[in-house]
Amino acid sequence: MSPSRPEGPEQLPAWRRLGELARALRHAPGAGGGVFSERVGPLFADFSKERIDAGVRQALVRLASESGLPAAIADLLAGAHVNATEDRAALHTELRKAAGEAKAAVLRERERFLRFAEDLRGGRCRGVTGAPIRAVVQVGIGGSHLGPELALAALGADGDGPEVRFLANVDGAAVEQALAGLQPATTLAIVASKSFETLETRVNAETLRRWFAPLGDAPDVAGCHFAAVTGNTAAAGAFGVPPERCFPLWDWVGGRFSLWSAVGLPVAIGRGPEAFEEMLAGARLLDAHFASAPLAENLPVMLALLQIWNTNFLGATSHAVLPYDHRLRLLPAYLQQLEMESNGKSTRMDGEPTATHTAPVVWGGEETGGQHAFHQLLHQGTRAFSADFIVCARPGHGLPAHHDWLLANCLAQSKALAEGHRTGPAHKRVRGGRPSTTLLLDALTPRSFGALLALYEHKVFAAGAIWRVNSFDQWGVQLGKTLAATIHKQLRGVAAPEQDASTCALLREIRRLR
Ligand code: F6P
Repeated sequence: MSPSRPEGPEQLPAWRRLGELARALRHAPGAGGGVFSERVGPLFADFSKERIDAGVRQALVRLASESGLPAAIADLLAGAHVNATEDRAALHTELRKAAGEAKAAVLRERERFLRFAEDLRGGRCRGVTGAPIRAVVQVGIGGSHLGPELALAALGADGDGPEVRFLANVDGAAVEQALAGLQPATTLAIVASKSFETLETRVNAETLRRWFAPLGDAPDVAGCHFAAVTGNTAAAGAFGVPPERCFPLWDWVGGRFSLWSAVGLPVAIGRGPEAFEEMLAGARLLDAHFASAPLAENLPVMLALLQIWNTNFLGATSHAVLPYDHRLRLLPAYLQQLEMESNGKSTRMDGEPTATHTAPVVWGGEETGGQHAFHQLLHQGTRAFSADFIVCARPGHGLPAHHDWLLANCLAQSKALAEGHRTGPAHKRVRGGRPSTTLLLDALTPRSFGALLALYEHKVFAAGAIWRVNSFDQWGVQLGKTLAATIHKQLRGVAAPEQDASTCALLREIRRLR
């Protein structure tokens, strides 16, 4: 980070200028200033429905440069310890580098896990009874779950590999659902956990071990029916996963940025290694763009600046992710972790409290269902928000008439939000001036999907760098984990420190009901 940067963005001249521009704009009804769009490879971003004009755009770009963003981007990509509270780099970009560019260990491990995927797809991977593996359950949560599940839903399994399922939640109902209809003899579990300590994953992995137990001796069963993706290979070994089935996750890869590592095995298993490589190539496109495009034409930087404009100057408290594509229905959940776990912070990198808001609440849902549910609030509600529409020009199915309706609805919604309808009785009026960006993919392919996710990853980093927060730690989640361990003891009748009155009352009621 540039040492000359002031402590908080609110002290920068560009921030003050943006404040003035926002005050001037507050009472203007419509959206911004003409057509404003950028293309990078298979992604076309239309910003024309954001509430910006040339002056705002210029001030936003100035904010990026006054914030020292170019130096922050260079630091990130060079492997500087941008995750200062954990004294680590955040080098997920290294994972998607091509042969000849990536570290030797990255390439070696990529080859190794892609070969494992090939073996599974080719029926060469057998269980302890000698039967070929026909189903894979990836056991993992958060970053070890959301990306791979989204990716496989987006790209679709090609049917040549084993069926792939996911088990994330510690809820027994989730376990039953994940295992329903599967046979232990033909199932393999991949325990994906960077720490190998996450409670949900450990409990679920132990349950699976018991599920496999009827197959025979524990070491043989673990050797044939478990694989692991982890930064804690010692713990995976102690669990019984043999070294040849253990794929490393380096400490310089954050969990929510880890799809590009062996955490993404479900993509390689379900859709094939070539698709996985293509996904990396798509992300690489965005990495090169992020590294070299001027700030004013830099797509992730522009998305970050618009988030800051909407959140800090136009009062947006939430950001809606609206995929008009059934295959991208899991994108809102993925982006919730990426954006909220990365930038949901109130302490700056220098340890001082932030003086500005940081990440908005990210939410969303699959379209067009949302139009018949929550869009009422978007059109006539009282709260300010921002939105991303994500849609493909070409469909992935053979029903073009459906795609025309999907596209028409997508474009109609962003138009209605921007322009509104200000005649007729009050209850029928729509105020308009609701900002949105539309991301148009040529088609949903492994390459465009990889580019889309890398776009959001870099957006999150750029926004965090301007807000001056560390986008790569998540200390806020620790407290709940510690409290749950104590409460779990009490539920099991083990003495533990007394709880607050509300928790005591709830524990009493639970005991009475069980
Ligand atoms: O508790 C939050 C978190 O650490 C996320 O950041 C992470 O993606 C998830 O838990 C799972 O962690 P692990 O991969 O170590 O099991």
